[in-house]
Amino acid sequence: MKRGDELAEVRDWVRAARRLVVFTGAGVSAESGIPTFRDALTGLWARFDPERLASEAGFRADPALVWRWYAERRAAIGQAQPNAAHRAIAELEARGAHVAVVTQNVDNLHRRAGSREVLELHGNILRARCLEGCGDPDRFAPGSDWRADPREPPPCPRCGAPLRPDVVWVGELLPQAVFARAEHEALGCDLMLVVGTSALVYPAADLPALARDAGARVVVVNPEETPLDARAARVLRGKAATILPRLLDELPERTGGA
Ligand code: OAD
Repeated sequence: MKRGDELAEVRDWVRAARRLVVFTGAGVSAESGIPTFRDALTGLWARFDPERLASEAGFRADPALVWRWYAERRAAIGQAQPNAAHRAIAELEARGAHVAVVTQNVDNLHRRAGSREVLELHGNILRARCLEGCGDPDRFAPGSDWRADPREPPPCPRCGAPLRPDVVWVGELLPQAVFARAEHEALGCDLMLVVGTSALVYPAADLPALARDAGARVVVVNPEETPLDARAARVLRGKAATILPRLLDELPERTGGA
């Protein structure tokens, strides 16, 4: 099938879908200037050691180093803007379909683009929480003053232990309630768009198979091959910020009906 035909076909699926899941990874933010994890030249882990910078043991060994690294990433993410892919995904929701964005990204760009239903499987770099998990239910929201000093982690206001970034580190469980909601959405959707993920990190990478086995169409959007391609209903080879807006072309307006 020609590329234009494939796009048109997926566009029809998007238009017809009643429940959509958009499952995203670092690639959706690549065109916002945020490096992916596995890109050999610019990927984050090509330049940094995950055991040192993204594990609890690494944090305990040198909290100030890890805190500074996250402060720098937060600053870079703060400078970045949502791109056309994030905006197109938010626009899907604005047009009336039920859309759940399930993301492995911690950069908050889906929310900034306007998506409301965002399930963050790996946390959010703009939040912090107590290293000892002393029970603060609300975490430390963006805007509170825990970010004032980028040089070292401030103490938890409740128990005095250091705060840590509210992201999932190597060897840690995903936030279980969030993952359960993501599974629920995957099981109930009729279309899942898998955008910009290498689909190598489990359990997140199980979600497309869950959706497919429950009867949904799974469409991969990625400039490179992924392990999901062989069993996807369609693979749209290209960059997220190019492809996603084209999936919206000619969609009926919210008020116009289908
Ligand atoms: P990866 O860095 O593993 O993969 C990025 C994917 O994006 C690759 O498949 C690229 O081909 C693709 N890509 C690159 N540029 C793109 C573009 N412009 N448009 C669309 N796709 C593009 O990132 P993730 O799959 O998100 O976990 O990695 C999953 C998890 O592994 C991360 O969340 C992180 C890491 O360990 C934690 O931090 C817990």
